[in-house]
Amino acid sequence: QTIYLSDYTPPAYLVDSVHLTFQLAPTATRVISKIAFRPNPEATSREFFLNGEQVELIWAKIDGAEVAPAVSPDGVRMDVPDAPFVFEAEVEISPQTNTALEGLYMSNGMYCTQCEAEGFRKITFYPDRPDVMSVFTVRIEGAEPVLLSNGNPTAQGDGWAEWHDPWPKPAYLFALVAGDLVAHPDQFQTMSGKDVELNIYVRPGDEGKCAFGMEALKASMKWDEDVYGREYDLDIFNIVAVDDFNMGAMENKGLNIFNSSCVLASPETSTDGNFERIEAIIAHEYFHNWTGNRITCRDWFQLCLKEGLTVYRDSQFTSDLRSAPVKRISDVNDLRGRQFREDAGPLAHPVRPDSFVEINNFYTATIYEKGAEVIGMLKRLVGDAAYAKALDLYFERHDGEATTIEAWLTVFEDTTGRDLSQFKRWYEQAGTPRLTVSESYEAGTYSLHFTQMTPPTPGQPDKAPQVLPIAVGLLAEDGTAVQPTVVLEMTKQEQRFKFSNLESKPIASILREFSAPVILDTAALPDNRVFLLAHDTDPFNKWEAGQTLAKDLLVSMVTEGATPDQSFLNALVEVARDDSLDPAFRELALSLPIDDDIAQAVFETGAAPDPDAIFTARETLKLSIAEALSDSLPRLMASCQIDAAYAPDADQVGKRSFGAALLNYLSLLDGGKAAQAQFDSATDMTQQFTSWLCLLRVEKDAAATSDFYGQWQHDRLVIDKWFGARIGAASPDKAVAMAQALTQHPDFAVTNPNRFRATLGALAGNHAGFHRADGSGYQMLADWLITLDAINPQTTARMSAAFQTWKRYDADRQGLIAAQLERILATPDLSPDTTEMVGRILNG
Ligand code: ARG
Ligand code: ZN
Repeated sequence: QTIYLSDYTPPAYLVDSVHLTFQLAPTATRVISKIAFRPNPEATSREFFLNGEQVELIWAKIDGAEVAPAVSPDGVRMDVPDAPFVFEAEVEISPQTNTALEGLYMSNGMYCTQCEAEGFRKITFYPDRPDVMSVFTVRIEGAEPVLLSNGNPTAQGDGWAEWHDPWPKPAYLFALVAGDLVAHPDQFQTMSGKDVELNIYVRPGDEGKCAFGMEALKASMKWDEDVYGREYDLDIFNIVAVDDFNMGAMENKGLNIFNSSCVLASPETSTDGNFERIEAIIAHEYFHNWTGNRITCRDWFQLCLKEGLTVYRDSQFTSDLRSAPVKRISDVNDLRGRQFREDAGPLAHPVRPDSFVEINNFYTATIYEKGAEVIGMLKRLVGDAAYAKALDLYFERHDGEATTIEAWLTVFEDTTGRDLSQFKRWYEQAGTPRLTVSESYEAGTYSLHFTQMTPPTPGQPDKAPQVLPIAVGLLAEDGTAVQPTVVLEMTKQEQRFKFSNLESKPIASILREFSAPVILDTAALPDNRVFLLAHDTDPFNKWEAGQTLAKDLLVSMVTEGATPDQSFLNALVEVARDDSLDPAFRELALSLPIDDDIAQAVFETGAAPDPDAIFTARETLKLSIAEALSDSLPRLMASCQIDAAYAPDADQVGKRSFGAALLNYLSLLDGGKAAQAQFDSATDMTQQFTSWLCLLRVEKDAAATSDFYGQWQHDRLVIDKWFGARIGAASPDKAVAMAQALTQHPDFAVTNPNRFRATLGALAGNHAGFHRADGSGYQMLADWLITLDAINPQTTARMSAAFQTWKRYDADRQGLIAAQLERILATPDLSPDTTEMVGRILNG
């Protein structure tokens, strides 16, 4: 059943307070609720309906008198007084058998919750919508040593604890945790001098993996005070690590719950990439306390209001703590790899969708990452000072509210006097704009002529021009800047911008810092990419020049049998050897586009991508780069040596990542000798894992595989890496067999989303392996999606997106994929989540 934004109506009843008592038991938890309702003066209806799914009603009362509500599979309905009243109920739920990991469930014997978006209705009967906000008081009765909920602890005794959250919140921010947990404690003093108790709760044995997350939390709290003036607002802030979790983490008020892979870290078991990701996710969830919790969304169509803004804020945080250019380049890589792909296919949807069947299917790269890009553009257009003023006004005006994108944009209009009605199209139109540029030069005047066009997407055949901030700089032939970066504001479909009083024709660096999420077509300009790779002062565009050269080269290798081009190889070697550049940047410059990106680029030339040819082209180019680099490898690798103790800071991470890229190239020349030496002597996971990956690529399933397993068998997060890397690194003809073998491994668990993703997600990510011409990759993924759907619909639906690019491929492959999609859709009792996703992929 489709829900439309245009059908929004205010809630019929508001909630003044909620009191919940939980009597925990694995298969028969009782939840006793006492909810004070009052008619909403703004309502258009007086119908009283409470959401509730998979909850068994024991009794219900209104103002103390027992009532008999009409119960349906999605909730209860009853007559109520036309004045404030108290609703009470007792229900029974079964956390132990809740494998969907939504609502109250169990993970390794521990109770935990996930209520966003609509999980609270699986806990008790309630108006489960974000515009109903209330103060919650919670009593937990259970034998578990640690009993946690939102807000501040108010009382506790043997076998019970009470919590009170003074900040009104929607039900999706409710959380409860009960288990045998140990705390890694700390504290933080806020800018107004209040002391906050901090804890990271983990299973016994994981205490040693909390220190980094705790430092990240304190850094986040400080940063939000310094940069946004946002102070924490409770006496306590708890984080809990959970092994079975559908997503990364959840910002429940005062009680963030994390997938253990997104919080637990130690140098021995976590890579640099893990550390960086953990730091960013801890910041993200913490930042939600203001952008999400204090100010929340009126309805789920407004999801980007909190997610886009919070992703934007966490990327600012990472840029401030680490390297801003490196963060920008990796964000753009991610945006192109996930969001542009979504925008280009059947799952394309606006940053603010106008309809959905299952909201869980809209926690997408478009809502998160494109949503953050839109905020970055807004900031660039209004300037830093106006952005800061607008944010202050947003917090002041909307604190305590559940609000909308309209309200958000009005804040900017009121601050700046700008009319943002055209800008709003970024929230309403799906698809990635294509920006085409040409140039002319005459008598000291250089002009750039831009044309924009956004292709049709499902349900949106025609698109209007969008506001594009285009950051441009001009360079002279000797590499000096003749025009520092300026932001051109394009609003029309076609527009010309002039630069006058120039001495000679300049070389343009366009879309610096990737100032708008568009696909830039520079085919009409002279090819200055080798020059820009050498001379551009904008790190993003310097990197971009190398990437587009590599991508074009790979495409012509695939489609025309071209061979690696010497001028490109020389330019790349120059960058690698340039010690004035950050090693992290040099690593990014040396990384080739992934197979999936090459497939998309081939598709855009009008050809059907051949996965094996793409794989071979990339391997061939890697070998050419290795050979071109070979003389420099000893010196460069020595420059990556680190004498200090392991630390995941930007400086060390940069050296290790550049070192790993170099080792990868060296392995192609020395058969893995150096990688084996590094693997044997590694004392941290980054060195161990990166060298093992080199061995896997050279020797296929390397001997080191069993050493790695033997060493880490007891550590589930490391074993996830072991599953994922073996499938990811398998050659195209072996990937399906490897994935088959690993799904038979005793450590495989279909019920654990991390392990499932490490296995089937790695298969889908092995481009040539997944797209084997015999269809075995498609069949295997479909088999497992069908199995998982009966257990965990949310993760199944998300992973079905692996098929979203199917229309790129040849008719045979399309036929094989369509048959699998149809087979999934024909599965009896398929969940609404998966039905919606697979249906959109097939018919979108
Ligand atoms: N709000 C969470 C975050 O961005 C994501 C939770 C999504 N969960 C879900 N079941 N859709 O950090
Ligand atoms: Zn979020």
